[in-house]
Amino acid sequence: MAKVNIGIDAKNLKAVAKLLSDVLANQHVLYIKTRNYHWNVSGPSFMELHTLFEAQYEELARGIDEVAERISKLGEPVPGTMAAFIKSASLKEDSTVPNQLTMISNLVKDHEACIKSLRNGIDDCEEKYEDSGTADMLTGLMRKHETNAWKLRRYLK
Ligand SMILES: [Fe+2]
Repeated sequence: MAKVNIGIDAKNLKAVAKLLSDVLANQHVLYIKTRNYHWNVSGPSFMELHTLFEAQYEELARGIDEVAERISKLGEPVPGTMAAFIKSASLKEDSTVPNQLTMISNLVKDHEACIKSLRNGIDDCEEKYEDSGTADMLTGLMRKHETNAWKLRRYLK
């Protein structure tokens, strides 16, 4: 395969790919958690939350593809196994099925953790690695997490 020659040095390409691999791992944990909640939610807001969670995991799936393909565009192999995702993710899965409000508050916390780590990643991509393309993509993802955190937060007192 031809070498990637886009004005970012090889060391920085690798560093950005590693950063994106960690983002990808958290996206997968949050995707599965949101889908788990879509399947297992019950209570007075069942259909509303069932539908909201579906819209959110579908959006996460689109983000997953964007991040994975960006790693490939930078010339690095894309990690694509559950074992790799679990190993690199900072988000944790649940051991039991939580109630409706706990589901919402868990998702808010996870979206907020993603927002904070993306914010750091965006700064690193711009300042340390000189990769404005990745910084721009991550900024778009961060804004989606902000919207989803807001939609969920409004259910909580
Ligand atoms: Fe479904």
